[in-house]
Amino acid sequence: MDGRAIAIFDSGMGGLTVLHECLVTMPNEDFVYLGDTGRFPYGPRPLDEIRGFALEIGRFLERQGVKMVVVACNSATSAALADLQAELEVPVVGVIAPEAEAAVQATRNRRIGLLATQATVDAGRYGTLVQSLDAGVRFFPVACPGLAELIESAEPYGAGTVEAVRAYAGPLKQAEVDTVILGCTHYPLIRHVLERAFGRDVTLVFSAEETARKVAETLARKGIAHTSEREGVCRFLTTGDTEQFRVRGERFLQFPIAEVELVSLAELRAAA
Ligand code: DGL
Repeated sequence: MDGRAIAIFDSGMGGLTVLHECLVTMPNEDFVYLGDTGRFPYGPRPLDEIRGFALEIGRFLERQGVKMVVVACNSATSAALADLQAELEVPVVGVIAPEAEAAVQATRNRRIGLLATQATVDAGRYGTLVQSLDAGVRFFPVACPGLAELIESAEPYGAGTVEAVRAYAGPLKQAEVDTVILGCTHYPLIRHVLERAFGRDVTLVFSAEETARKVAETLARKGIAHTSEREGVCRFLTTGDTEQFRVRGERFLQFPIAEVELVSLAELRAAA
């Protein structure tokens, strides 16, 4: 039994999709969620810069006394998972491997697509993982510049989002994939838009459920789960506007957020 909290971080709101699944799977655990909205988006940035941000955040969260760090951002997982695992004392779980496995299991025609940020596509980790699980799979990655930004905008379900999704879905439909990995934690926030774009015949693989399962398994195997029956609590931290985070976070998470604490970039840098 280990009563320490689990930390989850993302460049912004996307990791809330992972937090939600973790809350459903592990209702007795405490969570600390950090959204680096002050430096959002990560997707168009060079991998080295994202790696620097992720290491600052990982070290900062470890100093908060957490028992595990969940990198709920595909761009940060692509850029820094190995470095975080090497640097931190606590276990670090990322979002790419669980989805790659789920996609290989789901596909029937062995044609898998990927929608992700430019950074995640450039890093190429999904392709390597998918091929390592089944070398016969045809893999079609599509970078979606601007999509996470539309989801974080004041109109996440607006016409701009619908048009962008249609445009990015086009090449994957042409490639006749039967499985699409949503390789950005923001994308499940517009799940309905994506489901309409692809229709019933395409399986969409979301990172959140797979990742929550992986977190629960890791806690159980390491014997560090919170075994009491009490309901866990969540703390929310952001490097950006706290009120904006509270309002948008509540809407996406469908969960009351009473308070959001500001973490300055100087505090993050000091932890590094
Ligand atoms: N949620 C981040 C990810 O999973 C992407 C958003 C961004 O560009 O910061 O990659």
